[in-house]
Amino acid sequence: MNELLIIRNLTVKFYTYDGVVQALDNLDLDIKQEETFGLVGETGCGKTLTALSILRLISPPGRIESGSICFNIDDGDEPIDLLAIGEEEIRAIRGSKISMIFQEPSSALNPVYTIGDQVSEVILLHRRQELVNKAIETITALLAGRNSLVNILANPMRLAERSLYQKIAQNPHSLWPRIVGRIPIMRRLLQRLKDEAKKMAISMLKEVEIPDSERVAQQYPHQLSGGMEQRAVIAMALACSPSFLIADEPTTSLDVTIQDQILELLRRLKSERESSVLYITHDLGVAAQICDRIGVMYAGSLCEIARVDDLYANPLHPYTKALLAAVPKPGEEPHAIGGTVPDPLNLPSGCRFHPRCSRAIGMCREHVPPMHELASGHFIACHNYQGETGGSSC
Ligand SMILES: Nc1ncnc2c1ncn2[C@@H]1O[C@H](COP(=O)(O)OP(=O)(O)OP(=O)(O)O)[C@@H](O)[C@H]1O
Ligand code: SF4
Ligand SMILES: [Mg+2]
Repeated sequence: MNELLIIRNLTVKFYTYDGVVQALDNLDLDIKQEETFGLVGETGCGKTLTALSILRLISPPGRIESGSICFNIDDGDEPIDLLAIGEEEIRAIRGSKISMIFQEPSSALNPVYTIGDQVSEVILLHRRQELVNKAIETITALLAGRNSLVNILANPMRLAERSLYQKIAQNPHSLWPRIVGRIPIMRRLLQRLKDEAKKMAISMLKEVEIPDSERVAQQYPHQLSGGMEQRAVIAMALACSPSFLIADEPTTSLDVTIQDQILELLRRLKSERESSVLYITHDLGVAAQICDRIGVMYAGSLCEIARVDDLYANPLHPYTKALLAAVPKPGEEPHAIGGTVPDPLNLPSGCRFHPRCSRAIGMCREHVPPMHELASGHFIACHNYQGETGGSSC
């Protein structure tokens, strides 16, 4: 399997009044094509920041200090470094090639627009060429229809409309249709594009299993339940068939039954669309249900990466073991992880986990353990597991 995304030495800092927060520290991460990679760890370990860095959405006082994020847009093309491209290029990639679903669906939806309008807007923005072609096809079919009196009277208008769309098809993202569209008669001519986007939005809502999607398309976010809102957000995220979907705790605010339905939906959509997913969660049970591989994060870097079955059957890193022991199991007392996550303004030296680790040895306090591949596909950063350092640069 080829890599879709290769992150190397990603370092993110926040320059606050209290000091410099080292939020991500030389993070290395690879995500393969068509896999679901889970990022797990306690609160504040840097999961969301990893996702925001990929989309270049870290805002001040945060800053991406160094590193590279190589993204394979198309199998045939050279990967591009998302941290090195211009603002316009990254904006074109956001939403079309890489989409993100956030934890709180209500924060991703605009309360003053209907669900249908919001999904259509994404389609209008990113799938213009397809929409214009559909509009031309529809008008051509109408022109070829029966020569009834209504058709004969409407045909000159349709011919004008088709030639307008043929012109737009040469450069679907040019600004002039939007400017000309402000003139009332032209607005009527360009309405077909919006109608086509609405139709596609409704079929997208059907695809995420929203019942009675025509009616839901006309509703506002506050009229939907949490589960339905999250389905609408998923529809928006998938409206442009991205090759990479980031889901940041998408089920945390939902009750357990709805959570299972959303997980099942994501699993189905991912396999149908052959896309890759970065699934962020602090719930190891959820990660086990949906992920192919898992990366365990602690204080801004990864400490263990393995295939899901391997990680659960044979966890190696003391932090992974502690996380798994803390998962509640029927008939067993969960073992809370001793100590607390370190203060990001004052991180411990050496291995960031050493103040909480029962297996810490002398060198743990001084040296950051490098990540290495201990067994095929099983990577670990811990001084108690020696090995060669690995990882290729992108
Ligand atoms: N705006 C900010 N200002 C200062 N520090 C920040 C800011 N945003 C994030 N951080 C730092 O980055 C760390 C990682 O944040 P991040 O949101 O990625 O954590 P997370 O793993 O997603 O946690 P959670 O599970 O709670 O969502 C935080 O602990 C915090 O120290
Ligand atoms: S490097 Fe040392 S402190 Fe860190 S997890 Fe391994 S044994 Fe524990
Ligand atoms: Mg988060």
